[in-house]
Amino acid sequence: MKRLSALILWMVCLTMPLAAQTVRRMADLDAAAKADATHIALTGTLSTAGNSDFRQLRDLCWQLESLDLSRADCPTIPRCALHSRHALKRLALPDNVRQIDAQAFYACDALTDVCLPPGLDSIAPEAFAGCSALTTLTIHGRPALGPFAFARCTGLRRIILNSDVPPVADATAFAGIAAGQVRLVVPRGSEDRYARAEGWRTLMQAVPLPADTCRPEVCLLPAPSSPIVRHGGSPLSVLRKWRIKAEDGLDNEVRQARRVLAERTAGAKRAKGPDNILTLATDSTMPAEAYHIYIHARGADIKGGSAAGVFYGVMTLDQLLRGDAGNPMCAYVPALTLDDAPRTAMRELMVDPARIFIPLPVLKDFVVEMARWKYNALHLHLVDDQAWRIEIKRYPELTQQASERTGMDDMLMPISGYYTQDEMRELVRFAADYHVDIIPEIEMPGHEVAAIHCFPQLTCGAKEVPIRTTCGVSNELLCPGEPFVYEFLGNVLGELAAVFPSPYVHLGGDEAGNPALGCWTDCPKCRALKRRLGIDGDRREDNWRLQEHLFNSIIDTLRTKHGKTPMFWYETDFKRIPEGCIVFAWRHGLTAAAIRAAVANDARIMLCPGEHCYLDYPMAGGDMPEVNWGMPITSLAQTYRLDPAWGFGPASDCPTFEERHLAGVAGTLWSECINSPERLYYQAFPRALALAEAGWTPQARRDAADFDRRLQAALRDMARRGICRSAVTWQQAAH
Ligand code: ACM
Ligand code: ZN
Repeated sequence: MKRLSALILWMVCLTMPLAAQTVRRMADLDAAAKADATHIALTGTLSTAGNSDFRQLRDLCWQLESLDLSRADCPTIPRCALHSRHALKRLALPDNVRQIDAQAFYACDALTDVCLPPGLDSIAPEAFAGCSALTTLTIHGRPALGPFAFARCTGLRRIILNSDVPPVADATAFAGIAAGQVRLVVPRGSEDRYARAEGWRTLMQAVPLPADTCRPEVCLLPAPSSPIVRHGGSPLSVLRKWRIKAEDGLDNEVRQARRVLAERTAGAKRAKGPDNILTLATDSTMPAEAYHIYIHARGADIKGGSAAGVFYGVMTLDQLLRGDAGNPMCAYVPALTLDDAPRTAMRELMVDPARIFIPLPVLKDFVVEMARWKYNALHLHLVDDQAWRIEIKRYPELTQQASERTGMDDMLMPISGYYTQDEMRELVRFAADYHVDIIPEIEMPGHEVAAIHCFPQLTCGAKEVPIRTTCGVSNELLCPGEPFVYEFLGNVLGELAAVFPSPYVHLGGDEAGNPALGCWTDCPKCRALKRRLGIDGDRREDNWRLQEHLFNSIIDTLRTKHGKTPMFWYETDFKRIPEGCIVFAWRHGLTAAAIRAAVANDARIMLCPGEHCYLDYPMAGGDMPEVNWGMPITSLAQTYRLDPAWGFGPASDCPTFEERHLAGVAGTLWSECINSPERLYYQAFPRALALAEAGWTPQARRDAADFDRRLQAALRDMARRGICRSAVTWQQAAH
């Protein structure tokens, strides 16, 4: 009878829409069919690597609502198989599946029922984490459930199991699901076993927070600039009531501290004893972002060089309260003092809403996460060949005609959206509370097809150019001989300067000469400009002087009219870096040349060399994005190895480099393949933690093995909080 009911249950699980497209493999569907498909059934032997059946299901079938693999041959569902597919409602797994890999169905938050077939052996970490609409989970057999396998499936109400013996489950398998909300339907007589079993008991009774004392040496990331000193006082009992005392002008930091304390101590049973006092103050003799923290039996004192320094002290307190495990908090922090300050002034991540739009709420959440790791700038790549994403009131055509398109390479999905100026002001205000500066970027003279599409007169010969729907570099450039180009850029930058209070505006400048600037050679307006400037010839360096002319004019406008510091991507063709500009070293293998140029021109430079800082590259072989245009693997260890001084010390030929020229570090997240908010985080983390440490911690205090130890607590906390990280995180270390 029991077997019969299990069979019926299994059959019910398999009920799928009749209108599914049924094929053996994804290769049997053409591109349009993939883009149109809402219901797919596959019946063949499925591929799991490279541009696999799963990669195609995930990235090409953007409307997919139901997937029936019950007749497919597929013993392993690969890592990230259907990662963050927000439309997917129904799923039937292959009958012969034995293993579901990490993050296979991460944040498939429309999925309502999941039925695990009898032969399944294991479910890897976070396989169904964040499937918040999942209400019923049916488990046949006894698969082992890995860490956070069903974490934050907050809609779960019923788990039906047919095993008398509870499947082995990690203690965190159901983390983030309130005790008592899920009914376990288990074979009669096995209830007690489930109630006692690791992983399962958390669903029935609140697990008391362990009363542990944090080990500060493994909590802090980035590592502080000086050692933690234990001063021998009694530890701080975190669970007492907290009161905050702050000097005037720190209202925001008081709010931030309240948020941190509330998040960390939510639901915890209060300890007896006098209230803890957190004091917040500034000391203008300290560097602006430096802070001092003193933990003692009665509370914590934070002093910062400015409100920013106080904020970083609060972020450090947050990590001390978290402790070194996956729990939200620890019960005690040992008595200690700590002095800390950043190595570099700017610690930035760049995002690219031009390729695939990033909604404003996603940017805001990203800022909050960045601030935890003491980043202080978010760089927005607002325009490119594929779209224009910022409202310009003078030129409404830009967002009317260049913010909607279909497709990014082989992903034929509609991609639309832009930010109004009011939205950007809102983001700037929001980010300021986290001491994150928002730096806008408008590309020139290349990567400008979106604008050229709206205003053909911006390019040589006023050509009609379609919006680009693939990656790569367009041959179409702004025409430096055309007066409207200067008028257009002047007006755009004027509006931008009024929206973004950042002292910086990024002007792009990359890849205009790659392909060579041939489009300027035959243009009568460019030729006339060359004559006026005394440029005699059409060699690459001659054409490059036109770019220099355009740049100098725009840089002058930015500096004299708007008081901004221009930034640009450094190319070795730039023979001179205009005074007061900041350049970005980005090209693989050319960092030393960029640094020497910055020193020779007495300019400041941001380090984001592709070989360490391009976080859109895969973190390991086979990691997302599985298909690309030749991106090299950038492992966590490789990112960690970045030395922002690039080895130029006092004994080198650039002895003043770090002190005088190094502005900071930046990580890029070009978005050609980032097709969900979760994947923005997936690409960023954990490498952004390694980069944060490169930017903050002095070289002498950095150590990859030590970073790995501290990373573990941070990663478990991120998993618990639902912050996506590369699934390879579960295997890869930084050394
Ligand atoms: C760049 O990656 N083109 C700056
Ligand atoms: Zn021209």
